[in-house]
Amino acid sequence: MTVNLAINGDASTYEGDPRTSLLDVLRNHFRLTGTKAVCGEGFCGACTVHVNGKPIMACLQPIGVLDGAEVTTIEGIAPLDELNAVQQAFEDFDVVQCGMCFPGMVMSLSAFLKENPNPERDEVKSAMTGNICRCTGYERIIDALMSVQGLEQVSSQKSEKVTS
Ligand code: FES
Ligand code: FES
Repeated sequence: MTVNLAINGDASTYEGDPRTSLLDVLRNHFRLTGTKAVCGEGFCGACTVHVNGKPIMACLQPIGVLDGAEVTTIEGIAPLDELNAVQQAFEDFDVVQCGMCFPGMVMSLSAFLKENPNPERDEVKSAMTGNICRCTGYERIIDALMSVQGLEQVSSQKSEKVTS
């Protein structure tokens, strides 16, 4: 089957088994390895990308239904050599450890902030439920997110970092 896509703004064609997951196509066909393969079963969120602007888990998405879709991966979330606001906040708050979860986390939370530019802290927590991180404490990640929109009070962790 032939599937025509726009990946990070570039016209791209995949020829092959329509049952192949978008995750496999991105990583193994197009060599876009920023999208991580962790559980492969829809539990961890590490493979999250945007399809037509919405976050989806690429490991669960067969490529065959994506003809004509616009796909954005972590490689395309910001211009080359730049960070988007979520990436910058993660760097500012020094939250990335092993990094396996973070491409998916950035994709999920970037889409969330686009729809909810001024969220409450509990809304950020809810938005993160599909993304598992085994290294960094979630509170610190939420602190980083809250700093992006900057209106909600942030926890003491940010104050400690700012004053240290
Ligand atoms: S690799 Fe897709 S949800 Fe874990
Ligand atoms: S930084 Fe290691 S799983 Fe999140």
